[in-house]
Amino acid sequence: MRPPIGLDFNGGSATFGQPMKSIPITLSLLLLLPVLHGEDEHPAVADKNAPSTQGQASPDGIGKFFHGREIAKVMGHPAIGWLERDEREREEAPTRVIEALALAPNAVIADIGAGSGYYSFRIAPKIPFGKVIAIDIQPEMLEYLEKKSAELKLTNVSPHLGAIDDIKLAAESIDAALMVDAYHEFSHPAEMLASLVKALKPGGKVFLVEYRAEDPEVPIKRLHKMTAAQAKLELESAGLRLSANQTWLPWQHFMIFEKPIQP
Ligand SMILES: C[S@@+](CC[C@H](N)C(=O)[O-])C[C@H]1O[C@@H](n2cnc3c(N)ncnc32)[C@H](O)[C@@H]1O
Repeated sequence: MRPPIGLDFNGGSATFGQPMKSIPITLSLLLLLPVLHGEDEHPAVADKNAPSTQGQASPDGIGKFFHGREIAKVMGHPAIGWLERDEREREEAPTRVIEALALAPNAVIADIGAGSGYYSFRIAPKIPFGKVIAIDIQPEMLEYLEKKSAELKLTNVSPHLGAIDDIKLAAESIDAALMVDAYHEFSHPAEMLASLVKALKPGGKVFLVEYRAEDPEVPIKRLHKMTAAQAKLELESAGLRLSANQTWLPWQHFMIFEKPIQP
C-alpha cells in the first residue's frame, strides 16, 4: 500500500474571528509519511448514538467525536501549495465533479471550506449569472481567494469568512453547497450543518466529496477519510436526505444530499 498522504501537523491552535473559540490547526501538510505500525488500523470510535462526545485525541484528531467519528485537525493555510497540486485532476477528477454538479447558469453555490478556491474558481465560469460563495475560517485563505479572484478577473467568486460553527449566510439564500475534503475537519459539525440547512433553499443540494475510508488503497490518513455510511448518518442527523451516492471518483465519495421541500 502506498503511504498515506500526511495531513500531519504540529498541533498549534488559532482563533478565527471568534476570540473565545479556538481549534487545533495543522501547520504543515501533505508529507508523504511512512505508515507507523498500526496507525491507520484503529480508527477512533466513540458512542455512535451520542452525537458529540469528548475523548482522547489521536495524533491527527482533536479528541472530539461526532456520531463516533473523531474530527480531524484543520489543514493550515501553509498547505495551499498542496491544494493547488497538478495531480488533483488525476487523483480527484475535479472536472468531472464540477460537470456532475449540473448547476444552472444562475445558481448560487457555497463552497464550504474552500481553501485556496481550487473548486470555486473552476465552478465560477460555469455559472456566469450566478455566484460561488467561497467560505473559509482562515483569513489567510480569504486573502488568497481575494488575490486570485482579482488575478483571474472573476467577478462571481465571493470570499466569505465563516465561523467554526456557522457558515454565516442568510436563510434560504443558496441553491447548493459543495464540501470537498473539508467536512471531516469541521470542529462543530452539528452547528455547521444546522447553519447550512438554514441557508439552503428548500430542495437545495449538498454535494459532499470525501476520501473513501472503506478503501485501504486510498493513500490518505484515516481521520481525513470518511465512510459513506458515516457521512449519511451525520448529514441525515441534520435533516438532509441522501439522494445519490456515486462511485466513479478515483479516491473519493461523491454524495448528494437534499434539503427536503417540506420540513
Ligand atoms: C483540506 S482543505 C480543502 C480545501 C478545498 N475544499 C479543496 O478541496 O481544495 C479544508 C479547508 O476547510 C476549512 N475549514 C475547516 N473548518 C471549517 C469551518 N468550520 N468552516 C469553513 N471552513 C472550514 C479549512 O480552513 C481548510 O481551508
